[in-house]
Order: sequence, then C-alpha cells, then structure tokens
Amino acid sequence: MKGVFITIEGVEGCGKTTQLRYLGRHLAEMGYPLETTREPGGTAIAEAVRAVLLDPAHTAMTPTAELFLYEAARAQHVSERIRPALKAGRIVLCDRFVDSTTAYQGGGRGMAWETLNQLHAIATEGLWPHLTILLDIAVEEGLQRVQGVRPRDRIEEESLAFHERVRQAFLQIASLEPERVRVVEGHHSVETVRERVTALVEEFLRSHEF
Ligand SMILES: Nc1ncnc2c1ncn2[C@@H]1O[C@H](COP(=O)(O)OP(=O)(O)OP(=O)(O)O)[C@@H](O)[C@H]1O
Ligand SMILES: [Mg+2]
Repeated sequence: MKGVFITIEGVEGCGKTTQLRYLGRHLAEMGYPLETTREPGGTAIAEAVRAVLLDPAHTAMTPTAELFLYEAARAQHVSERIRPALKAGRIVLCDRFVDSTTAYQGGGRGMAWETLNQLHAIATEGLWPHLTILLDIAVEEGLQRVQGVRPRDRIEEESLAFHERVRQAFLQIASLEPERVRVVEGHHSVETVRERVTALVEEFLRSHEF
C-alpha cells in the first residue's frame, strides 16, 4: 500500500509545529506507521541548507539564491526521506512544504508562481501532498506568539507587509486547490485547533481507505 503525504502550512507562529506534534501522537496511537519531518530540513544535508537559509547574518542573500536553496533542500529531502517513507506505506507528516515556497517566494518576494511550480516539480519529481492543513491566523498574532520564544530568524525579520502577502498567498493557494488544502482558523485555543485538525485528517484517511 502506498503511503499518505500530509503537510501543515501557514505563517510564522500559526501553530504548525504544535499541531503536528499532537497529530503525530494521535495517529501513532491509532496504530498508523508514521514519519514526521519538516522543511527546510529533514535530512542532514537539508538541515545544513536550512541553517544557511535562516541565518540572520545572511542579509545579502538574493531572492533567486534563496529560492534555489529551498528547492535544493527539498530535492534532497524528498528523495532521501519522504519518498522512501511513502513507499514503505507510512503517513508522512511534514511541517511546511512546497506551499511555503509559493507563499514566501511568490507572495512575499513577488516571484512568478508558474516558475515556482516548475521548480517544485523538478525538486519533488512530481510529488505533491495528498492533504494540506493551512492554519490561518493574523500575521501580528502569529509573530507575537513566537516573539521571545527563540531568536528571530532571517525570514521572521521581514516586514509585516511581507508576512501579510505570505498569508494572502497561502489563502489563494487554498482557493485554487480546495480539495487538497483545508483551511483551519489558527487563532482558536490549541485544543480547538487540535480537534479540527484531527477531524479533517481522520475524515481524509477514512475516505481514502488508508
Ligand atoms: N492555538 C494556540 N493558541 C495560543 N498559543 C499557541 C497556539 N498554538 C501554538 N501556540 C504557541 O505559539 C507559539 C508558536 O507555535 P508553533 O511553534 O507551533 O508555531 P509554528 O507555526 O510552528 O511557528 P514557526 O512558523 O515559527 O515554526 C508556541 O509558543 C506555541 O506554544
Ligand atoms: Mg514551527
């Protein structure tokens, strides 16, 4: 049996990592074979690229260099980790994936979506998430949540307007692919969001007879 590829997306601090942890625990308790991972990262090489991408010292990085680094990390991650896990029949839960690149590089930096989609296809060799949970939240609220929790990375240093464009791009992706991308309001309590995410994923797994 083929695996199921589920991604969690959204702006900084919307609750992706928190919800992925709960969802992972829940699915493992239900007995599903599971692989949890994140982007950029997920393998030694891709984590090394992540460190380059997020380093606040790298203010001189050009948008094109940034884009290729994200896609390079993704190519390694998909090939080394995600595809093998799916082939082994696991549910792969990934914290951010292609939609983040479309939202940040397309929405945030203004790069052409068509070009981005072509690069995604090269990096993933055509692999696309089966289900994506988009946690939507006001950018100020999300940024406020992560403030003080850890030092700000290079992307979090961007302006509010940048993050607002990212949020709108995520919502646009959801409206273009409503079957795949399900929007959950992220401003509710952790518990409420958890219930909604769990219900969506369980419904998806039932309907796909995994
Ligand atoms: N629904 C919620 N209500 C209030 N606080 C929350 C909620 N979900 C998460 N948090 C808190 O907000 C902070 C950011 O959450 P989390 O790390 O899960 O977000 P994220 O989307 O993974 O952020 P990033 O984009 O920076 O990786 C954490 O301190 C977390 O405990
Ligand atoms: Mg996170």
